[in-house]
Amino acid sequence: MQWISEISLKGKRVLLRADFNVPLSKSGEVADDFRISSTLPTMQYILSAGASLVIMSHLGDPEGKRIERLRMDKVAVKLKEYLSVQVTKAKDCIGEETLQLERELKAGEVMLLENLRFHKEEEENDETFAKELAKLGDIFVNDAFGVLHREHASVVGVPRFLPSVGGFLLQKEIKGLQKLLETPEHPMVAIIGGRKIESKLPVIDRIAELADEVLLGNMLAREITSKNISFKKRNKIVFPLDGIPPDKEYDIGGETKKLFAKKVRKARTVFWSGPLGRYEDPEYAQGSKIVAEAILEDTSYAVAGGGNLLDFLGRYNLRDKFDHISTGGSSMLAFLAGDQLPGLKALGYYGN
Ligand code: 3PG
Repeated sequence: MQWISEISLKGKRVLLRADFNVPLSKSGEVADDFRISSTLPTMQYILSAGASLVIMSHLGDPEGKRIERLRMDKVAVKLKEYLSVQVTKAKDCIGEETLQLERELKAGEVMLLENLRFHKEEEENDETFAKELAKLGDIFVNDAFGVLHREHASVVGVPRFLPSVGGFLLQKEIKGLQKLLETPEHPMVAIIGGRKIESKLPVIDRIAELADEVLLGNMLAREITSKNISFKKRNKIVFPLDGIPPDKEYDIGGETKKLFAKKVRKARTVFWSGPLGRYEDPEYAQGSKIVAEAILEDTSYAVAGGGNLLDFLGRYNLRDKFDHISTGGSSMLAFLAGDQLPGLKALGYYGN
């Protein structure tokens, strides 16, 4: 596999897959631009190398429909702020009009495509759609760590038609997560909370192989109990102590807060995916706050990831507690579980 720093970009048309699937406020503004700022080194590098830049991403899950709220215009505004250059926003991600705009792009200029998932062909990994996207560049750069687990056209289809490399964010994520896999200092504690349960259940066993203890949030614990799911490393799994409320994502209870904080305080390595309660309501953010605060300065290595957890940590200015903040949610878990990620495979990461 090749990385962006290993190839010449001068005079090239670069097509970048980014993960700008950012949280939006009620009024539709970008509520947290961490995924945009994290991609900045790659974007700046491409522009200063004398290339033109076409950026593509999905936003939310419009399932093949054009949904006004999920247009990329607000992301384009943020990009302009960060890059201090004019950003042309295309009305679509493929088609003659988009191609024409791309032809007019000069070195150092940027174009942002419309939401890829307005076309159902993106998630279907349609070959013709991927070929259309590939017309927009000479070189494909993938910096979308958050979607590497998806077999979508812009992730695995485009690299079939263009020379393809990984960007700086991919490199940083792999390095940051690899450290957990290779040399974690013990005790190591993993905290798994949040939603998207379907992506979390299958990896608990593998995470339990890395960590000394795996602390579970209410929603996961409830799912595990109600479905009678068993784990190979059962002795490492720590359930909430206070009983699990029937069907809401409320906070962990008082005894659990104390127990989790104690375990986290003793840990040398911490891995955290998913908040422990419905943190959007301050009343239910206490458990996540207590756990975050228990990550002491002398923890040797702390990693957090996943959209909602990032949002929570951002709201309470707690991101500084971590050595690595991953922009991925499910992709981060799959990487840690040792799964081959389709997006990395398409770049030749696992060999040919
Ligand atoms: C994420 O937010 O985890 C990524 O952008 C992937 O989004 P998805 O789960 O809708 O594919």
